Amino acid sequence: MLDKRFVIPLQEINREAFASSIPDFNHRSEIMKTDMGYKCTITNIVRLTEQEKLFQLRIIDNRERDIFKFKPGQFLMLELPGYGEVPISISSSNSNHEFIELCIRKAGHVTSALFTVDEGSHVAIRGPFGSSFPMDEMAGHNVLLIAGGLGVAPLRAPLFWINEHRDRFLNVHLLYGVKEPSQLLFTYQFDEWELINHITLHAIVEHPTGEWQGKSGIITELFDDISIDPENTYAVVCGPPVMFKCVCNYLDKLGIPMNRMFVSLERRMHCGMGKCCRCMVGSTFTCVDGPVFNYWSVMNLKEAI
Ligand SMILES: Cc1cc2nc3c(=O)[nH]c(=O)nc-3n(C[C@H](O)[C@H](O)[C@H](O)COP(=O)(O)OP(=O)(O)OC[C@H]3O[C@@H](n4cnc5c(N)ncnc54)[C@H](O)[C@@H]3O)c2cc1C
Ligand code: FES
Repeated sequence: MLDKRFVIPLQEINREAFASSIPDFNHRSEIMKTDMGYKCTITNIVRLTEQEKLFQLRIIDNRERDIFKFKPGQFLMLELPGYGEVPISISSSNSNHEFIELCIRKAGHVTSALFTVDEGSHVAIRGPFGSSFPMDEMAGHNVLLIAGGLGVAPLRAPLFWINEHRDRFLNVHLLYGVKEPSQLLFTYQFDEWELINHITLHAIVEHPTGEWQGKSGIITELFDDISIDPENTYAVVCGPPVMFKCVCNYLDKLGIPMNRMFVSLERRMHCGMGKCCRCMVGSTFTCVDGPVFNYWSVMNLKEAI
């Protein structure tokens, strides 16, 4: 007979009500009460490069699939049963309710194990977590999407959003830099972005190898190719901290205000929901208050970069 004194009462969570509204992350108590988990099937895996694969997931339960919503810039905790959980940015369109896409680099324990699974395998996700890019605020302006390496993965969600609301934006440029041509991700979408969605793509590689005919150098050299109206431009920068620091300094010199530059900060995370303190920078939780911050806030966060 179970001694009731030792049974922790289960909190009644209205999963449907919670998930049907995007959680308000300014109310941390709300998110801490809740731990939404969804079982998914991996429905497709595309090898993009030697180090990165694109995983397409489908939430198994029909009702849960309908209620799962996210905003561009948010991330998930992805669990491979038996191996652990990792934070991964959502890399698909938030209007696609059938599938979720995650672009994953093989980095260590969990991500290497993910590289061995086949289509049809099951994983679990929690989330979505974190802050998002201010898509509505950026509408009506020019937008610079600036990606270094794997940074193009979190930028793909705002790219889809812009493509789906293209008439709400002025000029949109994607500036994308990698070390070698073989590391370029989503090359199969370049034509679509340029020709159909009228997003001007500028790619640059640090070490041109093979048949690379494009520009070589570092990402800031791409600014020579475009004219920027600082009064009317937003910038979203994703990549390693050393890159976004250098890019944001450059944009600052061009006159773009720091509160119109957005970056996504990556820290090691465990819970993703403000519980474990693993991701803290000073008193800021990068999982709840971020990962998307404007550059002004990042500059004021000690040890953020
Ligand atoms: C908000 C957020 C979004 C992310 N989005 C993506 C994404 O879209 N695609 C993707 O491939 N990766 C993404 N990452 C990084 C990813 O979470 C790590 O690569 C992953 O957790 C590594 O786990 P692992 O068990 O494979 O490696 P581990 O064995 O834990 O570590 C292997 C190596 O990776 C480094 N590492 C671990 N965690 C991180 C981290 N959070 N940031 C940087 N380096 C780390 C370790 O220092 C170590 O050198 C994201 C991280 C965060 C915080
Ligand atoms: S990851 Fe646990 S508090 Fe941020």
